[in-house]
Amino acid sequence: MPFEKKILCIGAGYVGGPTMSMIAKKCPQYQVKIVDINEARIAAWNSGDLPVYEPGLKEVVESVRGKNLFFGTDIEASIKEADIIFVSVNTPTKTFGEGAGRASDLQYLEKTTRSILAASDSGKIVVEKSTLPVRTAESMERILNGNNKGIHFEIVSNPEFLAEGTAIADLEKPDRVLIGGHQSDEGEKAVEEVAKIYANWVPHERIITTNLWSSELSKLAANAFLAQRISSVNSLSALCEKSGANIDEIAGAIGKDSRIGSKFLKASIGFGGSCFKKDILNLVYLCERYGLPEVAAYWESVVKINEWQTTRSVKRVLRSLLDTIVGKKVAIFGFAFKSDTNDTRESPAHLVVRELLDERAVPVITDYKALPDAKRDLADVLDKVQFTEDPYSAAFESHAVLLCTEWKQYAELDWEKIYASMTKPALVFDGRNILDHDKLRKIGFEVMGIGKA
Ligand code: NAD
Ligand code: UGA
Repeated sequence: MPFEKKILCIGAGYVGGPTMSMIAKKCPQYQVKIVDINEARIAAWNSGDLPVYEPGLKEVVESVRGKNLFFGTDIEASIKEADIIFVSVNTPTKTFGEGAGRASDLQYLEKTTRSILAASDSGKIVVEKSTLPVRTAESMERILNGNNKGIHFEIVSNPEFLAEGTAIADLEKPDRVLIGGHQSDEGEKAVEEVAKIYANWVPHERIITTNLWSSELSKLAANAFLAQRISSVNSLSALCEKSGANIDEIAGAIGKDSRIGSKFLKASIGFGGSCFKKDILNLVYLCERYGLPEVAAYWESVVKINEWQTTRSVKRVLRSLLDTIVGKKVAIFGFAFKSDTNDTRESPAHLVVRELLDERAVPVITDYKALPDAKRDLADVLDKVQFTEDPYSAAFESHAVLLCTEWKQYAELDWEKIYASMTKPALVFDGRNILDHDKLRKIGFEVMGIGKA
């Protein structure tokens, strides 16, 4: 039986891979293809060792790969035959020119848009899956519809809200699917086409449609709000440390208020990940560009507090280790930016390691999934850092354990064994507040957490 529709996704990363695998699983009537310029990444998607670690992902991929899900590098031919093209390329922070350090670097998006035009000989729906500045669709339209081929492209915004570590669950049961399009006949038809895909498994009332600009900006707004909650709680964690209050108790108390809600109130060493910082900085840039410096300053403070939270944590540890850690072994428990992922982008652990190296300590890094990426991130200092898969070896003869990632396995370790092998006095800095501090103190550890006296 021929496929009802051919869906293509350009960009086989943390979003493209899992999102399209879920669409393929839920829509056997569609052919779903994912292409990328990165040949090694595509080879990994076609192997038993996927490039993205995500609980449940392997099972989904293996259930549909070769049936209606395909990974490839034949971008041109895939564009030509596609009816709907999702664009899921990276949109990192610009590192050069105007807006450096804030604006989104849209070069990958632009190249992709131009290759869509070059390879197409019929009109298509092009879906923005990447997170983009508001009104990006306008620029894409200028490229795509300024053609002399007599074909028309309709742009639809469909931002992705999955969180890493829970991507499969988030995709299976999304809080909402957001689809934005032009309020014209063709725009509405295109939105309907995209909504039809999700309607295969997402309840009707969870599929929200808006105008294009609202959809684009909602994605930045959602990430800014989530990150702002963490920065709010982290800012108060510093006050707790001075006043004797306990930030976890405060989060529990305020989270019970249904107007506030309990999620995203976990105090931590700082939020990481490829998106929060990048997307807020992009929002800051947009506000400045639209002449709204007060709004820009408000959101920028969310990022500033986050960096301060990580660096002040390292200072607390340093003070506790008698203000010198030269030559001291310090174990880093967790390098991923959160648990259940191998992703280390903007991980607070990375900043911690750099600060420790500035103090000439000897960091020993352990993680359940992220050691390959950690080695890549620290390629310039490999002679000064050690890596081990085993947390017990990481802690052996160390002066301190700094827990940076909330892997639940860390709470289940034999902490008496760890204590026995460490240099005394032995310090545990629980940067995620996931350990039993009373129990650790009874064993003999000095214990520091976030937002606790
Ligand atoms: P990623 O870097 O993991 O993947 C992007 C992929 O696009 C790369 O494999 C790259 O090789 C490929 N690519 C770049 N230019 C290309 C081109 N011209 N042709 C073909 N392939 C090309 O990025 P990601 O984490 O998947 O994020 C993608 C987008 O989704 C970003 O805009 C991000 O903000 C957004 N987003 C990410 C997450 C997340 O959890 N990571 C969640 C929601 C939204
Ligand atoms: C986040 C959003 O949650 C997703 O909705 C969004 O799609 C995604 O960004 C994106 O645009 O990339 P993600 O960064 O993958 O997802 O993971 P989160 O669960 O949001 O965690 C981000 C960081 O905040 C992690 O370092 C996590 O440990 C930290 N965090 C989270 C806290 O410190 N406290 C909390 O209460 C929650």
